[in-house]
Amino acid sequence: MKDRIGIRMIERAEKNGWLSAGDTVVEPTSGNTGIGLAMACAVKGYKLICVMQDKQSKEKQNLLKAYGAEVYICPTDVDPSDPRSFYSVAAELSSRPNHYQPDQYSNPANPEAHILATGPEIWEQTDGLIDILVAGVGTGGTITGTAAYLKEKNSDLMVVGIDPEGSIYTAAEPADVTTYLVEGVGEDFWPETYNPEVTDRYEMVSDGESFAMARRLAVEEGLLVGGSGGMAVVGALRIASEFADKLVIVVIPDSGRSYLSKIFNDAWMLENGFDVA
Ligand SMILES: Cc1ncc(COP(=O)(O)O)c(C=O)c1O
Repeated sequence: MKDRIGIRMIERAEKNGWLSAGDTVVEPTSGNTGIGLAMACAVKGYKLICVMQDKQSKEKQNLLKAYGAEVYICPTDVDPSDPRSFYSVAAELSSRPNHYQPDQYSNPANPEAHILATGPEIWEQTDGLIDILVAGVGTGGTITGTAAYLKEKNSDLMVVGIDPEGSIYTAAEPADVTTYLVEGVGEDFWPETYNPEVTDRYEMVSDGESFAMARRLAVEEGLLVGGSGGMAVVGALRIASEFADKLVIVVIPDSGRSYLSKIFNDAWMLENGFDVA
């Protein structure tokens, strides 16, 4: 999913004169936006620094390095305003001369990529029959752009946002916003790229449920998906059982290959208190 936004954010910056030959791109990322940017930067000849939280999988860090990116690791368990947070470190780096931060949390090219690609793909592939869109919410780019396109086509479309337990989108009060282990979804602030008006309802899903579903999808369906894909499917099954005659489409953002050392590793699961049955 995030490959789609990398190239579009880079080309928007070039068009606006914010990036030129020899510049360095800096982005705080859970990994996947970094990978999309890394591909675009490799082709276009920009340097890339990805700033990540220490909870993100080693596979994603190594993948970024394989594309030639530099990776900075920051603590997960600090407030966004803390100078050690990945947001603050990325902001400091991008304030340097000839450094540019696409900022997937505020860049309109993020939701736009899904208005131009993901929405039309789902519309065409369902012959316009989609009734309910289910997607996890991170920056909100996927759900905002995809829902904007699809709701324009069918104003009766229902949109369900799936959120990890501990994230701000479904937190009843500020004290409920806490850390969780699923990667790429949920936030501890409301990003500009998310238009919450597109979301008709939310489902909150725990880490344990998300990881169990990712493991189940591999062995029962032959689908190796990441934790946020497991999370989205847990939400989609709740919705599908409630609306049995509707066509429900669920977005699975990435592959389980990035989580072989975590979700698909029994020792890691047990160490973190999850069931491996
Ligand atoms: C694994 C994964 N799932 C879901 C998402 C959420 O997508 P969005 O940021 O478009 O809301 C991301 C975003 O980085 C991600 O990396």
